[in-house]
Amino acid sequence: QPHDEEGYSEYLYKILVVGDIGTGKTSIIKRFVHNIFSMHYKSTIGVDFALKVINWDPKTEVRLQLWDIAGQERFGSMTRVYYKEAVGAMITFDVTRMSTFDAVAKWKADIDSKVTYGPEDKPIPVVLLANKCDLGKDAFIKTANDMDKYVKDNGFIGWFETSAKENMNIEKAARFLVEHILKND
Ligand code: GTP
Ligand code: MG
Repeated sequence: QPHDEEGYSEYLYKILVVGDIGTGKTSIIKRFVHNIFSMHYKSTIGVDFALKVINWDPKTEVRLQLWDIAGQERFGSMTRVYYKEAVGAMITFDVTRMSTFDAVAKWKADIDSKVTYGPEDKPIPVVLLANKCDLGKDAFIKTANDMDKYVKDNGFIGWFETSAKENMNIEKAARFLVEHILKND
């Protein structure tokens, strides 16, 4: 990675954001990058991009190139192309719709089968986002303990309850993912 005379480094990381239709991928990215939120739903077609620059510490800048992949792409054939050279991912589900949690395993398997990093072809770090937690989790029957076990058993680095609407835990989840990526680098 680039490292100038003063010891200043800049990293550029490609991050995938996937998960079923309407789970809040675009909203999470808009909140994270522009600090905005809208209840208006406009489904993503194909893929969108956003750039988030993080001043990680006084000597390190991290640029995240976020790939906002449409939920319907799980049924398409483009994900292999979209995933290329990604170094980390976020998988979202909607806590009010159990079917979107069931789809998490499919997204994880899709990523693990199509993208790896390093000479040992390791799986890329993936964080799980339980989104729309502002709506209450009555429909979602998993406890925090269940979730801890689920992420451990399924090879996620961790999970967070998020809300794009209330701006909850998005920054925290992203920082957690970046810490893992920096460690890998
Ligand atoms: P696709 O692009 O179709 O795959 O959907 P997406 O995952 O990008 O979902 P999107 O961000 O477009 O959000 C879908 C709907 O859920 C929109 O109406 C959002 O306003 C709403 N939404 C997203 N995040 C939250 C949240 O944290 N809380 C609540 N209450 N609504 C949310
Ligand atoms: Mg979208």
